[in-house]
Amino acid sequence: MQGKKISVLFVCLGNICRSPSAEAVFKKKALEAGLDLIIDSAGTAGYHTGASPDKRSQSVGIQRGYSFEGINCRKVAKQDFEKFDYILGMDNENIANLLAVCPEGYEGKVELFLNYAQSEEDQVPDPYYGGKRGFEYVLDLIELASTGLIQHIKNK
Ligand code: 4NP
Repeated sequence: MQGKKISVLFVCLGNICRSPSAEAVFKKKALEAGLDLIIDSAGTAGYHTGASPDKRSQSVGIQRGYSFEGINCRKVAKQDFEKFDYILGMDNENIANLLAVCPEGYEGKVELFLNYAQSEEDQVPDPYYGGKRGFEYVLDLIELASTGLIQHIKNK
C-alpha cells in the first residue's frame, strides 16, 4: 500500500473498557495481517483521563493474548475528526456524542464498529457495571468486528 497510512480511532464513553480493548485487539490483528496502520482510542467523556484501561478489561484481554501497554485514557478531540479515516463508536450513544462535537464535513467518518462484524448485535454493550462475562462478551464482539475491518481495509 502506498501513500498516507490508514488510521482508525475506536471510541466509547469512558475509554477504559471497550475502546482500549478494541485498540489492543485491532493492533494485534493488523500486525498479524501485515497492515501498517495508525490505531488509537478515545472516550467521549473525560472522567478517567490519563488512567490505564480497566483491570477487568485487561485481565480478559491479556488472557487472550492482547497487550494494553502504552494505552492511556484520553478524551476525543476536535482534531481527531480530521486526523482519522475511521472513527468507530461502540454504541449509539457514542455515535450521538461524536456527531454532537463533529466539525462539519467529517460526519461520514463516524459509524458503529459492529458495522464490520458478522453478528446479530449492532452495538458493543457497556460492561462497566456488570460482571466478568460481560467483559468476555465485549471481547467476542470486538474480535469479530476487528476481523471484518481488517478484511475491509485489505479489500480497499
Ligand atoms: P467504556 O465503559 O465506555 O467501555 O470505557 C465505561 C467506563 C466508565 C464509565 C462508563 C462506561 N463511567 O461511568 O465511569
